Amino acid sequence: MKRRNQIKIQKTGEDSAPYRINGNGSPHKVRFIDLFCGIGGFRIAFERAGGECVFSSDWDKYSRITYKANFGEEPHGDIHTVAVADIPKHDILCAGFPCQPFSIAGVSKKNSLGRKHGFDDERQGNLFFSIADILEYHKPAAFVLENVKNLKNHDKGRTFDIIHRTLTDSLGYTVYHKIIDAKSVVPQHRERIFLVGFRDYRYFEFPEFSSEGPKLGSILESNPLPKYTLTDHLWQYLQNYAEKHRAAGNGFGFGMVTERDTTRTLSARYHKDGSEILISQGPHKNPRRLTPNECARLMGYPANFKITVSDTQAYRQFGNSVVVPVVKRIAESVIKSLQRPADYQPDLVLRCAERTRENVHAPNPPKKMARYKISRTNK
Ligand SMILES: C[S@@+](CC[C@H](N)C(=O)[O-])C[C@H]1O[C@@H](n2cnc3c(N)ncnc32)[C@H](O)[C@@H]1O
Repeated sequence: MKRRNQIKIQKTGEDSAPYRINGNGSPHKVRFIDLFCGIGGFRIAFERAGGECVFSSDWDKYSRITYKANFGEEPHGDIHTVAVADIPKHDILCAGFPCQPFSIAGVSKKNSLGRKHGFDDERQGNLFFSIADILEYHKPAAFVLENVKNLKNHDKGRTFDIIHRTLTDSLGYTVYHKIIDAKSVVPQHRERIFLVGFRDYRYFEFPEFSSEGPKLGSILESNPLPKYTLTDHLWQYLQNYAEKHRAAGNGFGFGMVTERDTTRTLSARYHKDGSEILISQGPHKNPRRLTPNECARLMGYPANFKITVSDTQAYRQFGNSVVVPVVKRIAESVIKSLQRPADYQPDLVLRCAERTRENVHAPNPPKKMARYKISRTNK
């Protein structure tokens, strides 16, 4: 379904503030680049946090159409064809780099096709190194990377280890990482890993997300078109498929939800049969899929986001995207860290017994960071 005549997204955030690192230099907005930009989830989030996008890149024809419709400019194409020196100077590099080579679904599909995965996937796996090249050349003050949760376990942890060591030991960034579930800001269980890095050591905390969140009813349309209701044929097929796997002791099946629920993770394959998120329409009617507009809201996109591509492409694009309010909160925390004095530390309570370095790696962290868990005092 094509949707037109919608209001265009504001290019700058309403709360955008001038920016200086450590109070030095002339004030300017935080400049960020949007790599593997898809339809601009990072861009909306960072603009709303006060940033200004100075470069974007994605090679997918249909994502570029959506991006242009909403931001008024077409992203650059294949990142391999862009000379690193031609990328403008920036303060923050943002990249939700392609997850297929690292995701469980991607790995098993590729294995079954007899293909390689992870860094052995020559076409996709080396995209991380495009990011590393840009970091090495431009040395931005910070970066925010996003990927599937499985990045941490892929290839028994070796993939993450290589990424982490490249960012820290080779490039010298202090890196924090955390798996965040978007369910506190949208009615969707969606766990993604975020890596935040600072060129110079900086104190940084990921924002806290509550374990409670909105329910599906808050984003459902009241009168979705009949085409979103499953045909008898498809509904029967999904039930048979689920039954077959139940009998074999497997957990595969459809994910039926009501307005009181949180959905499973929306995937880029949702257009195929919609089975991961089916909305119950009562006992006398087949369930339905989410509409593309509901997918937009499930990913936290603003109501005025324009969808000018086919349903199939729209489902793919939202399924590949980031949850905008999650990234917005991370963006605010990163910008706050950059605006503080470089040696900022909050008032600390040092608890030797609870020492942990799990989520921070700094090449030369202050001794306190290296040896103790740090928590704020309650003043
Ligand atoms: C996981 S999606 C990122 C989605 C994005 N973060 C968003 O919010 O919409 C990865 C994107 O990388 C793009 N991509 C893959 N290989 C690329 C390449 N060589 N150059 C540029 N973009 C590429 C894909 O087209 C896809 O849109």
